[in-house]
Amino acid sequence: MRPKDFSVVGGTGSRRIETSSREVSGQNRREFLRAGGVSLFAVASRESSVEAVAPAARSPYRAAIVGCGRKGTGYARGYVLHPRTEVVAAADIDPENLELFTRRFGVPGYQDYREMLAREKVDIVSPILPVKANPGVVLGCAEFPVKAIYCEKPISASLRQADEMVEACKRKGIVFAGGDMYRNFPQFWQARDALESGELGEVRGLNLYQSTNEISGGGCQGLSVMRLFARDAPVEWVCGWTRRDPFSDQDQGMGGTVRFSNGIECFIHNRRVARMGIEVLCSKGVFVSDWYTFRLFRMKASAKDPRRRDSLEEIPGLYPDSGLGRRVYDEEGWRHPGTRQMAGIQSLVDALEQGIPPRTSGDDLRLALELGVALRQSHRQGYAPVRLPVRDRELKILPHISRYLNKKEVHGEEWYREQMEGWKRDPQG
Ligand SMILES: NC(=O)c1ccc[n+]([C@@H]2O[C@H](COP(=O)([O-])OP(=O)(O)OC[C@H]3O[C@@H](n4cnc5c(N)ncnc54)[C@H](O)[C@@H]3O)[C@@H](O)[C@H]2O)c1
Repeated sequence: MRPKDFSVVGGTGSRRIETSSREVSGQNRREFLRAGGVSLFAVASRESSVEAVAPAARSPYRAAIVGCGRKGTGYARGYVLHPRTEVVAAADIDPENLELFTRRFGVPGYQDYREMLAREKVDIVSPILPVKANPGVVLGCAEFPVKAIYCEKPISASLRQADEMVEACKRKGIVFAGGDMYRNFPQFWQARDALESGELGEVRGLNLYQSTNEISGGGCQGLSVMRLFARDAPVEWVCGWTRRDPFSDQDQGMGGTVRFSNGIECFIHNRRVARMGIEVLCSKGVFVSDWYTFRLFRMKASAKDPRRRDSLEEIPGLYPDSGLGRRVYDEEGWRHPGTRQMAGIQSLVDALEQGIPPRTSGDDLRLALELGVALRQSHRQGYAPVRLPVRDRELKILPHISRYLNKKEVHGEEWYREQMEGWKRDPQG
């Protein structure tokens, strides 16, 4: 088996800078920069090359998967590749999926996740399930002495279910992380730190470009990055609209305006235009990401008015590309689980080792769902502003059926077999 080496599995190559930049936070970080006279732009530029990090001597976190489907296999592969985690057990109600998984990963399999958690010593449990099953299983897992629960997104259909999961984990002191998310890319956190240093002036506005036809399913990705660049300030109000029917509970595309309590304003574009990703608009520059690349533009020393197009210049080579979509097969025949997946696992490990929140917490996913609900409520009320938090916690967004139910059931056995075989080139694997 290939030795674990983060420089191979991480792809973003920023483990060290990520750790160090998150240790210095908020005001302290700005003071640190002023005192040292060091630019965070320079720090990012210098340290963005891929580095090998020696595997830690301590024993790895013991991870178990509940839901051995397409995405559950990716999580397991990520845990295998990360130097601080290993896969020790799995559970699934589908005997065929469970058998394939236990054969591929060489771990004990259980039909009942409760029996698995009662028998096995597990630090991290990952319920990677259809949304319908997720809340019940997350709450069930929280009854066991695990350190972390890392599930998929969307975490639930209703706000009440999301509240229950977040509260249960908080009560038990369990780290609750969610989703294989853009927000886990360290480049976003480094860029946010750079913006906080004030070198581009004040962050004033955001443009989020997402033409997705699901605000909760896929759209929670962009909404979570949007909140990050508004410094995760509370949302004061939203005005929104849905793409199809505001009175339907089914997930659908949505656009609108979001006003944060710190005055930052975001416009969510749902029409398909010649842009995707996010633009962070500062008083003296702009940060732009299309989820693949991360670019900072600042005002030229000679420029007088930052609003003129030719007055900005790019600071080149700051952040490595995300590597999104680069899914090569390794010599064992495994498809790489993706740099985003690895960034999520790194974030969870950081949370466990440093006592900091994961980059995408269950609470972040609850807030993404709440934003979707609020945008739709606005449309339902004649485009009126809707204040957050949303009072009616029974409100819900029903995810697309292939997220809500098992994909084998929705897409058929043949499609499903091909998907599962795609993880490993050797079909006997
Ligand atoms: N972040 C992303 O980019 C991304 C991408 C794809 C899917 N997802 C999310 O991942 C989740 C799973 O998707 P998938 O493609 O792996 O689905 P899947 O249908 O391939 O797998 C689901 C698995 O869960 C099992 N399962 C269902 N109920 C269970 C229960 N109560 N106990 C134990 N096992 C149970 C099923 O038997 C199946 O093996 C969905 O919520 C989806 O929204 C996220």
